[in-house]
Amino acid sequence: MTTEIRPRPETLDSGAVNRGAVTQIHHPLVRHYLSRLRDVATPPAEFRQLIQSLAGVLAYEATKDLAEHSVEVRTPLCVTSGQSLQQRIGLVPILRAGLGMVDPILGLLPQAEVWHLGIYRDEQTMQPVEYYSKLPPSEPVDVALVLDPMLATGGSVLAALATLTEWGVPTVKVLSVIAAEEGLRDVSTRFPQAQIYVDAVDPELNAHKFIVPGLGDAGDRTFNTLPRS
Ligand code: PRP
Repeated sequence: MTTEIRPRPETLDSGAVNRGAVTQIHHPLVRHYLSRLRDVATPPAEFRQLIQSLAGVLAYEATKDLAEHSVEVRTPLCVTSGQSLQQRIGLVPILRAGLGMVDPILGLLPQAEVWHLGIYRDEQTMQPVEYYSKLPPSEPVDVALVLDPMLATGGSVLAALATLTEWGVPTVKVLSVIAAEEGLRDVSTRFPQAQIYVDAVDPELNAHKFIVPGLGDAGDRTFNTLPRS
């Protein structure tokens, strides 16, 4: 079951009503995985596995409307008709944490292209800093899936969306495991054409712009680079 969340105009800036849709997944497996993911005691190996499971669920939902075309299939018994995907699909992981979402989605979409974007959030200014882009100058994919397990202020996703718009991608979907309400509102308002898929929506950002309750730093937990105490 999913909820299509269209932020009400009165909860956002007045004016525009054509806001990007946010789809949250509601499923017992997702809630179970999220609880394990949030747990500070969950070790990196399990954390990576949970991110993979939650990313797969997001991808399944986000690919529901991919275009298909009819194909003829010869089974061992006869010729029948079937469908085949016809669009070029690009996975766009935001380094580092987005890398953890790539493999399960490539498992579902083995023909997808992977275009990496390096963006981190400056801890002083909280602004996104772009440090790597592998996008070619032309021939954009038809559909881009932006992968980042965390959407906090939304700054990193907005930077990725701007880059993909410049590349000329017609359809962009954002897949995030946990998003803060505030960041979702900002991305939906500034980029209403993006479709956003989340496993959880958390209510707050703290003074350091960390999602609360959240799960900490997904990049550090994925790659076991948490500061040693
Ligand atoms: C985290 C996270 C997002 C971003 C979210 O990355 O993975 O990319 O912050 O914050 P925002 O919505 O406020 O931009 P981080 O900067 O920690 O980089 P990392 O993945 O390399 O750890």
